Order: sequence, then C-alpha cells, then structure tokens
Amino acid sequence: MSKSSDRVVVAVANQKGGVGKSTTTINMGAALAAMGERVLIVDGDPQSNATSGLGVDRHDVAVNTYDLILGQGDIDDGIEPTSVKDLFVVASSIDLAAAEIELVARMSREHLLRQAVDSMETDFDVVLVDCPPSLGLITVNALTAADEVLIPIQTEYYALEGLTQLLRSIEAIQSHLNPRLRIEGAVLTMYDRRTTLAAEVSAQVREHFGDVTYRTVIPRTVRLAEAPSYGEPIESFDPKSRGAVAYRSLATEWRKRHGRST
Ligand SMILES: Nc1ncnc2c1ncn2[C@@H]1O[C@H](COP(=O)(O)OP(=O)(O)OP(=O)(O)O)[C@@H](O)[C@H]1O
Ligand SMILES: [Mg+2]
Repeated sequence: MSKSSDRVVVAVANQKGGVGKSTTTINMGAALAAMGERVLIVDGDPQSNATSGLGVDRHDVAVNTYDLILGQGDIDDGIEPTSVKDLFVVASSIDLAAAEIELVARMSREHLLRQAVDSMETDFDVVLVDCPPSLGLITVNALTAADEVLIPIQTEYYALEGLTQLLRSIEAIQSHLNPRLRIEGAVLTMYDRRTTLAAEVSAQVREHFGDVTYRTVIPRTVRLAEAPSYGEPIESFDPKSRGAVAYRSLATEWRKRHGRST
C-alpha cells in the first residue's frame, strides 16, 4: 500500500501538441514544491521535455517511465532529485514511444503506471504526470493512475478543437478503468491580454468548462520559453518574472481547491 493517503496524482493532459503541458507540469510542480509540498513529476512523454527542463539527463537514470510502463523496475529507484528542493522527477526515455506498441498484447496494460505509483514507498504530496500529445496507451496509463486531470489550453483560435476527443477518452476511462478520475481544472496558457482573441478564447473556455477553469491565466513570456534550456523551472530561473508569478498563482489556486492553503 502507498504511504501517503492524501497524495494527489494529477495527469496534465491535452492531446494537442505544444499547448503548454510540459511547461505547466514543470513550473506548477516547482511552485508547489516552493510552497512546501513534496512533488514528484513523472515524465510520460518520449520527447522528455519535463526531464531535460528539470536539468536531468535521461541517459543517466536507473529506472525510467518506460520501465515502469512495462512493469520492470522499482519506481523508488527512478526518483531523481532536481535543482529544486522537494521537487523530484522520474525521467522519460525515447523508448517510451515503443511502449505504445509493446503494450498492445499485455494484460492490464492500462494499469501499469498506476501499479508503479501505488507501489511507491517514497512519500509525496503531489504527483504530476506530463502526458504526451496523443491519446494512446501512455496517456491512458496516466489517466488510469490519476485522481484528476489538469488540461492546459493554449489561448489561440480553435483552442477547443479536439477537446471533445479528450473529454470522451476521460469519460471512457471513468466508466471502465478509473471511476475516481475527475476533471480538476482547465488553464489558459500563452495568454496575451492585449489581444481581443485572448478575451474571446477565455470566454469560450469558461463557457465550456465553467468553474473548473482556473482564474489564473499563464501569460506568454520569453522567460518561460527560455528556462528549460537552463534545466531550471521559472521559480528558480527568474522568480520575479511574470511567468513565475503566474505559476505561483496557479499553484496557490490548486492548493486552495484542495483545502491545503495555510
Ligand atoms: N507561457 C508561455 N510563454 C511562452 N512560451 C511558452 C509558454 N508556455 C509554453 N511555451 C513554449 O511553447 C512550446 C510548447 O510548450 P510545451 O512544451 O510546454 O507544450 P506541450 O503541450 O508540453 O508540448 P508537447 O505536446 O509537444 O508535449 C515550448 O517551446 C515552450 O517553451
Ligand atoms: Mg510536452
């Protein structure tokens, strides 16, 4: 059994590419860690953006998400420290792309990540799973392991396009694999408040998602795009920047929603 009963597992998912999933995972994770939560990020994307963005070399780890998804290796051996106190990562691997195929013939193939997380001995308050831009078996594993889904939505034309597919997948997983899964939040990313587009998209998202839409919006800023190449979250890279302020605000809202604010 897992040690921490109030541990929350969050899948950060949207099958659309480049909407800010990895940026949100890294920076919300770091902001939560700065607020005293013990945070584990599980990199579920073969692109390994969350791993490299946290300064961890994916070639340099004993156990990665690919191993976990194939039921090999102990998750506790794959927990790597980052430059941020209380923020850890399980690295991804390019091989994770092959897992989609290798899993096809497996029994309980949707539950493998959940089994790994449930078996974890190390104590964490929050586990964030950075999903790849697809609705394949890796994302299904993440949603099966999760208590909740956080959906980053890029503030652009057709922002809601394709979300019906994601919502249908979530419903299917709720009925067949993981009844406790809920949509916890939708967050607007790369928001440029000078444009009328931003206000329009924001209104559409709020109409569609209602109260689960975060009040915090993540601005489009160069600093947020630069931080990963230094292997650091914005929280340590440039704590006073607008991006850092926004991700702290998102983390604060998340904690309030979970009754964890002090
Ligand atoms: N708020 C922001 N301001 C400026 N650039 C951003 C912001 N958020 C993300 N980016 C940049 O946009 C690109 C896509 O972001 P990110 O990698 O977080 O998206 P993703 O949804 O994880 O992508 P993928 O689907 O490929 O995994 C990256 O280059 C990132 O640095
Ligand atoms: Mg990503």
